[in-house]
Parts: sequence; structure tokens; C-alpha cells
Amino acid sequence: MPAPRSHSSRRGSSIRTTITGHGCSSPVSALATPAMTHAYVGRLFDQYAARYDTALTENLAYRGPALLRGAVGAVMDAAGRPIRFGSMLDLGCGTGLAGAVFRPLVVDRLVGVDLSIAMIAQAGNKEIYDLLVPRDVENYLADQIIDQRAYDLVIAADVFVYVSDLKPIIASVANVLTPDGLFAFTVETHPGDGVNLLPTLRYAHGQAYVRAALTDAGLAVAHLANAAVRSEKGVPVDSLVVVARKSARRRAPTGPNT
Ligand SMILES: C[S@@+](CC[C@H](N)C(=O)[O-])C[C@H]1O[C@@H](n2cnc3c(N)ncnc32)[C@H](O)[C@@H]1O
Repeated sequence: MPAPRSHSSRRGSSIRTTITGHGCSSPVSALATPAMTHAYVGRLFDQYAARYDTALTENLAYRGPALLRGAVGAVMDAAGRPIRFGSMLDLGCGTGLAGAVFRPLVVDRLVGVDLSIAMIAQAGNKEIYDLLVPRDVENYLADQIIDQRAYDLVIAADVFVYVSDLKPIIASVANVLTPDGLFAFTVETHPGDGVNLLPTLRYAHGQAYVRAALTDAGLAVAHLANAAVRSEKGVPVDSLVVVARKSARRRAPTGPNT
């Protein structure tokens, strides 16, 4: 697919904060990994939407949804729980490739969110979502927290390659998961720490960084495995398939009397 040519922060200038992985020996400056604008990513996928399914499955050997389905199934099997979810939120749902794989597991409500209107339109044609929201996931999650919405399963298949700093999103996801709820996602990865912007202009997140982001959000790693989510020019892309679990116990309320 076409690669982005330039990046800027959402305010239009480079970000100067520092991202550090858990136990990083050297911090990775986010100046080297600036955020992509929502407008840019939306335009990119609006242009790509009509040929996305064919390009991903036939040309790029994309198997993110299948890998996530296998990982979620393994986690539920290991816990002795049925592989069924009352509600599911599909972050960066795109044309619904992952939604189609997970729909049979969702009993009640499947919600998809994506900032590309054309990708959302393609997902709508599949008639698998109960609700499709044309929105960026960061602001959608913030609103879901305010509205006290909760989901039994949240997934993000091949979305975090467009997000440099995962920590705020993972923290938000933790706040919209039901007790014992699962968060399943893929990232492209690299052998070092922190976040790298690859020559393909997709972000790669180191394993220690991902683990630290989950721990900071209060989520436990239930599954983390190396895999190839897709290929790039015929070469498998180093990726991680991750399933994290929210504690079954609700946090004790904090306040002046506790
Ligand atoms: C490579 S596609 C993956 C689509 C789908 N999850 C799948 O498995 O086929 C990445 C999608 O994430 C969306 N996306 C990227 N960043 C986003 C953000 N911050 N908020 C909402 N959607 C985002 C893009 O618009 C695009 O549709």
C-alpha cells in the first residue's frame, strides 16, 4: 500500500516528548517517531478502501484476524471459559476483515470504529457490525469512558502500526474493559526497545515497550507471541500477537474516606 510521505503531530509540529520502554537502556526520542495526523491516515485509507481486502489477503498474505482469533481462543480455552463475548469493540475496524472473523463469537453487540469514512463504508457493506462509528479511536475511547460503556473484548488488528505512543490508548482500553475482559492486538515489532519508525513508514513497537504499556494500564499479559501478521515484498514482517486481560476484581474506590 502507499506509504505516508511526511508526518507531523496533531498540532502540526514535531513532538518532543520522550518514549521509554520498560527497562530501556536508552530512551527513544519521539522526535524520531512523530505521530501521524488523523487526517493523513484517514486520507490514506479512503484512497485504499476499494481495493483493501484484495490487496491485503491476496498480495500481502495478511492474517492478523486469524492470528488474533487463535490467540483469543487459546486464552479462553486455558481459562476454561467458553469462547463467547457479550460485546466487542473493533478499534480501527477498517473494512471489517477482523469483525467478520470475530462476529460468530459475539453474542450481543459488535461495534467498529475507524477514522476512514471509505473503510467504514466497506465494513457496512458486510452487514456484520451492530454499530459503525467514523471516528478516531483515541477520542471515541475517551467518550466511552465518560459514558461508562464497557466491552468484554476489544481488538486492534494491524492498527497500532499507525500509532507511535500506545500508552494512552492502552490505558483507555483498560478503562472500557469489563472485569476479566480481553484486549487483543497486533503490532509490528523490532528487536530493540521503544518505538521505531520503519523505512516502510509504519511504527514498530519493541516487546518490552508493549509489556510496560500493558502493565502501566493494569492489564496482565495472557498471550504474547512472535508471528508474521503480513508480508512486505514477499518477506514476512516481524510482529507480535498479544492478548491482555483485565483483572476480574474491580478496583477499590479511592477517595477521602478510603
Ligand atoms: C491496516 S488497516 C486494518 C483494518 C482492520 N483492523 C483489519 O484487520 O483489516 C488500519 C486501519 O486503522 C485505521 N486507523 C489508523 N489509525 C487510527 C486511529 N487513530 N483511529 C481510528 N482508526 C485508525 C485506518 O483508517 C485503517 O482503516
